[in-house]
Amino acid sequence: MSETDSREAFGLQVLKNSHPDIRRIRDKGNYTSLHGNKFWKSTYVLMDYLSECPPDPGMRILELGCGWGLGSLYCAKNFDVDITCLDADDAVFPYLKHHAKINGVKKPQTVQMLFEDITTDFLLDFDMIIGADICFWDSLVPTLTGVIERGMEAGLQRAVITDPGRPTFREMGEYFYEEWDAVYSDWDVPAPYNVWGLVLDVYNTKD
Ligand SMILES: C[S@@+](CC[C@H](N)C(=O)[O-])C[C@H]1O[C@@H](n2cnc3c(N)ncnc32)[C@H](O)[C@@H]1O
Repeated sequence: MSETDSREAFGLQVLKNSHPDIRRIRDKGNYTSLHGNKFWKSTYVLMDYLSECPPDPGMRILELGCGWGLGSLYCAKNFDVDITCLDADDAVFPYLKHHAKINGVKKPQTVQMLFEDITTDFLLDFDMIIGADICFWDSLVPTLTGVIERGMEAGLQRAVITDPGRPTFREMGEYFYEEWDAVYSDWDVPAPYNVWGLVLDVYNTKD
């Protein structure tokens, strides 16, 4: 293993695709199919934003499109919260569980589910949604908008989604800015990360 096979980010160890542990997981047949093949940099934006605007203690957090789950693991390590990691592609979970193990997070809850299948009843079990780089197809704009709005109706307090600036995410961000008075802004993550992104932070003002 070379030093460049892994990096330290916001107190977490994040492995790269070239890391022997990642190669071993992939060689066991865990081939991802919906872009869950690596850690995406919008999660840096999520971590940095949450470090300044954290969840409340005790919140039950649902991460949508968790991929390798570093956003949830960051929350579990830094805040007194419960995490549940949801993804349509169950091939991502071995990567997530390995990152949980090396970062000392015990048994993260995982759920294999399409965004499209998330019901209001399911959302009753959560106080906050998080997500990074999950609104990347046109069809995901109404789908994710619907999940967040139904969540708010079910009593969700907050939803924070970050993105590298895709037009699809911008469409969703502008909608929540207009209709829900959400925070929707640029976010610069300083060195050593040097990542730019957009943040959408929807508070349940209609509760
Ligand atoms: C670009 S990756 C981002 C992964 C992770 N959030 C990160 O920042 O590293 C998008 C993730 O969303 C998941 N995904 C895509 N479409 C989905 C859907 N319709 N329902 C649930 N998960 C989906 C993929 O499997 C993938 O893990």
